Amino acid sequence: MAIKASLTPAHEVEADWLVVLVSDASDLKGNTRQVDEALGGMIRAAMKRGDFESKSQEVLPLYQTAGVAATNVAVVGLGPAEAIDVRGLRLSMLTGLRFCCTNIDQSVAMIVDDTVSSRLSVSQLAETFSDSVVSGPTDSDVYKAEFKRHPFIEATLCLADIADTEQALDAGAILGSACNVVKDLVNRTANDIFPQTFAACAAEIAEDCELECVILDETHLAAEKMGALLAVARGSEKPPRIVKLTYRGAGSDAQTVALVGKGVTFDSGGYSIKPTDSMISMKADMAGAATALGVISAVASLKLPVNLSVYLGLVENMISGSAYRLGDVVTARNGTTIEIHNTDAEGRLVLADVLSYAIDDGAAAVIDLATLTGACVVALGEEVTGIFANSDELSDRITGAASSTGEFFWSMPMHPHFEPLLKSDVADCKNVGPRWGGAVTAAKFLEKFVGDTPWVHLDIAGPSWADSATAWQDAGGTASCVRTLVEVFRRE
Ligand code: BES
Ligand code: MN
Ligand code: ZN
Repeated sequence: MAIKASLTPAHEVEADWLVVLVSDASDLKGNTRQVDEALGGMIRAAMKRGDFESKSQEVLPLYQTAGVAATNVAVVGLGPAEAIDVRGLRLSMLTGLRFCCTNIDQSVAMIVDDTVSSRLSVSQLAETFSDSVVSGPTDSDVYKAEFKRHPFIEATLCLADIADTEQALDAGAILGSACNVVKDLVNRTANDIFPQTFAACAAEIAEDCELECVILDETHLAAEKMGALLAVARGSEKPPRIVKLTYRGAGSDAQTVALVGKGVTFDSGGYSIKPTDSMISMKADMAGAATALGVISAVASLKLPVNLSVYLGLVENMISGSAYRLGDVVTARNGTTIEIHNTDAEGRLVLADVLSYAIDDGAAAVIDLATLTGACVVALGEEVTGIFANSDELSDRITGAASSTGEFFWSMPMHPHFEPLLKSDVADCKNVGPRWGGAVTAAKFLEKFVGDTPWVHLDIAGPSWADSATAWQDAGGTASCVRTLVEVFRRE
């Protein structure tokens, strides 16, 4: 697929679709005027009639239009000009592009109203464009014979100045395809993606991206005394795996950051079994691991000058005669004994052992990604990632990066008064706290396994999954956090 920037006036570009992004402040006086004039003033007339108000993600399709070289035109709203940011731009670009790819082999051109040029740079436009061209057509209908949407065969962004857009277009395509990998893994079902098959996918990506890849099997995990992770795994016929991927873009004296991903390929809840409505989407409980994999693949493809390791804790949480029970006491890799009060609080048990392993393996800082608690979704809603940290410096790097990707993060409290809530009568701690503050006690549990290493826990239970489709994304996996975490490493 060819994605390019072009100086050719938008109305002269031959394509199946021309997408025109218009803000509400535009009376089509700027760069979009020529397109409207070529169309005989159709857009302005529609605005005058009130048929198109430039509301964000509003689409006005004009079929078989005369006057422009493209076959059809889609006018897409950007919303209020003074509120446009990268997120708004991405959502509007995705809306327009997703509208235009319901047929196979479509070519598309796009022009963005220059009311946005004071708020967004040319490289932001170019990167967001190619990202959206690559990721927009990917839906969750992975098992259907016919897909709702199809990749574009050609995409052209019309700009007045195309100097320095090449790198941005490349970067956007890398981000878009990393997000597609994540969405695909999350959307595929638990009879398809389980620890061994997830590990095989990771190994394949490692090969493509020239990453070092080590897969630890159940024997190796037992030798590592990963009693917490192995307790969760015991109920399943699918043996657990840890995948370690390493990318070295900086010298060997530079520090290594580790990403740790919760990869519960299905979470039935175990004996603390989930009701149907909660269990139905639990194939997506490996989104943390998928996200970490997406991030390292993009970091490697971008050849960023950093050292990054990824550790994926891949386990299935099931019920059987060998499953772990309520009241069991298990011993984590670092020696901590844990009394099991709820077998559905399994993610923290998996992460406990993977975190301590990553730190002993030499990570100077650790970021974990996990669909850890429903409580975090209650607290922050479906689109905000909870940040829990023992280091303000590391969490500030994430919120700083988020300011340029437009993803939502919010810092949560980690005060010491939460600690006694995890006390057990029989063991060093229990695996759940009381009802209130469940996202925080989960994070406080993880904190026991990271020592003094700078650490951030990202609870992505809400944002990693969309319950319903919107104009800009399908229901299912969303690949949230990929762009922001890659941005963290681009800023290093
Ligand atoms: N995987 C779930 C968390 C989750 C909930 C992810 C909703 C995505 C959407 C996790 O393993 C879990 O079951 N957490 C429990 C913890 C509780 C038992 C303390 C929860 O949130 O109810
Ligand atoms: Mn659970
Ligand atoms: Zn879970």
